[in-house]
Amino acid sequence: MNAEAQGHWNRVYTTKATNAVSWYQAQPKISLELIASANLPADAPIIDVGGGASVLADRLLEQGRTDLCVLDISAAALAAAQARLGAHSRRVNWIEADVREFAPPQRYALWHDRAVFHFLTDPGDREKYMATLRRSLSPRGHVVIATFAPDGPARCSGLDVAQYDATSLHREFGAAFELLESRRETHTTPTGAEQRFTWVHLQLR
Ligand SMILES: C[S@@+](CC[C@H](N)C(=O)[O-])C[C@H]1O[C@@H](n2cnc3c(N)ncnc32)[C@H](O)[C@@H]1O
Repeated sequence: MNAEAQGHWNRVYTTKATNAVSWYQAQPKISLELIASANLPADAPIIDVGGGASVLADRLLEQGRTDLCVLDISAAALAAAQARLGAHSRRVNWIEADVREFAPPQRYALWHDRAVFHFLTDPGDREKYMATLRRSLSPRGHVVIATFAPDGPARCSGLDVAQYDATSLHREFGAAFELLESRRETHTTPTGAEQRFTWVHLQLR
């Protein structure tokens, strides 16, 4: 695992409350809407890549989903999510890993990524991400992903990011994927700043 990246993210999650980080959402509304529109059975395997301490897993468990995985490079982020979920955390598969090197133990029907891919400003890192995705996704699998938009921030958490609109984000994933839906979102951070995001929902052809 990339020790520098791991150290960076563990520092973030050990020095800030999980509801004080700029990407905090009380409700992952668009994630839930796009995941619902994939129309998957309750036992379909879903992975939240770079899920951090997001409450997405909590909401999906409440909906009766039974095969959830949260992957993150930061053990501190995963520990915060587990503490919040208490006994329910046993119903989620937690994986401390760098998405660029992750060897999936199974295939997933849906891959969710909110604000992780955009940190990969190096083309080689994006290729590694896509290689992991190809190994991870089931046939006809879904991808629900959000990045900063062209009119969104150029940096997050002290790191440079790449910005995408729906067309350029779809292009990164390639022609093997059909673009089912795209959205623009204005996220309000805990300090009241506005950040523009691009969302796409893709499916393997
Ligand atoms: C901006 S936060 C978003 C967290 C979460 N998706 C959400 O919406 O609340 C980015 C997350 O990606 C994780 N991360 C960054 N680089 C990663 C990598 N290479 N592999 C796995 N996780 C990574 C960080 O630890 C952090 O939790």
